[in-house]
Amino acid sequence: MSKWSVFAYTSLSFFFVISCTMAVFYGYKVIAHHVPQEPGKLEDYRYHFVLVPEELDNEYWRLVEKGARKAAEEAGVVLEYAGPNQASIDEHLETIEKAAASKVDGIITQGLSDEQFTPLINKVVGKTPVITIDTDAANSERVAYIGTDNYYAGYLAGRALVKDLNGKAEVAIITGNFYANHQIQRVNGFKAAVGSEKNIRIIDVEESEISRVKAAEKAYQILKEHPNVTAFYGTSALDAIGIAQVVEMMQRQGDIYVMGFDTLPETLDYMKNGTIQGTVVQEPFEMGYKSVRMMIDLLEGREVPPLVHTDTKILRKADLPISSQEQIREVH
Ligand code: BGC
Repeated sequence: MSKWSVFAYTSLSFFFVISCTMAVFYGYKVIAHHVPQEPGKLEDYRYHFVLVPEELDNEYWRLVEKGARKAAEEAGVVLEYAGPNQASIDEHLETIEKAAASKVDGIITQGLSDEQFTPLINKVVGKTPVITIDTDAANSERVAYIGTDNYYAGYLAGRALVKDLNGKAEVAIITGNFYANHQIQRVNGFKAAVGSEKNIRIIDVEESEISRVKAAEKAYQILKEHPNVTAFYGTSALDAIGIAQVVEMMQRQGDIYVMGFDTLPETLDYMKNGTIQGTVVQEPFEMGYKSVRMMIDLLEGREVPPLVHTDTKILRKADLPISSQEQIREVH
């Protein structure tokens, strides 16, 4: 063998070993670029899943993540929690694309109604199973959905409002997003529940972009433009919190009724002091936990139902005899 061949052979072998090492190493890291679990455990991981929330630091999604991490740890799964810092369809889609390109074993994602979402999921799903969580995308070929029955949840909110206000109210709705499937269903379910009540009028529907600050701005604007509003319904986790801030600032507690969504600590605090009268309970921890279990079942050939609805119910102040922390633990 000539000197040149020995050199070429040695260099090629060297690069081959380096690329294999990098492939194994970056196999874990390619989405979020950080090792999400104890490095010591990585070599014996069973599967690698990616969970894509609507927005990373949203308290509601942190509960979904917590549930998913628990199931992942129990089952030896590496779970990456990756996606937009603030709700962004482009970043959401990009994260799914990256996860698919890096050949993770499963993708768990909030379902989007954006027109690019369905073709992307349909393309990915041939190679990587996709489960939607929290919000479904029933027209796509996602393998399964786990989360609240959002129409029913909205319906419950509407019936609770009718009951609490004896069938009489001027209602303003603040919804997370006009185009998101679950938000639309929460509004439609509510409208169906109050539709037959002749003394209930929905006088405005505004959008908060799932931001508490925007929800507060919208609530303020609504109260200025429609001083006759007697009730608010907020359809995403931070909406009622934003509304409650404004109601307190304007010292309208007592004459304005607030129905919200979710049981975040601040929501429960506003319920305890009487600014928020009711909220729709969802089970984000359980959604996260079960989504990972479902993905494992899928990969191991066990049957997975295409639609799994987690529990939902109305919580009122009277149901809160204990501290909010205990309540959180009980609810989740
Ligand atoms: C919804 C989530 C949303 C969150 C926003 C929850 O009620 O289920 O989809 O991202 O509110 O704060």
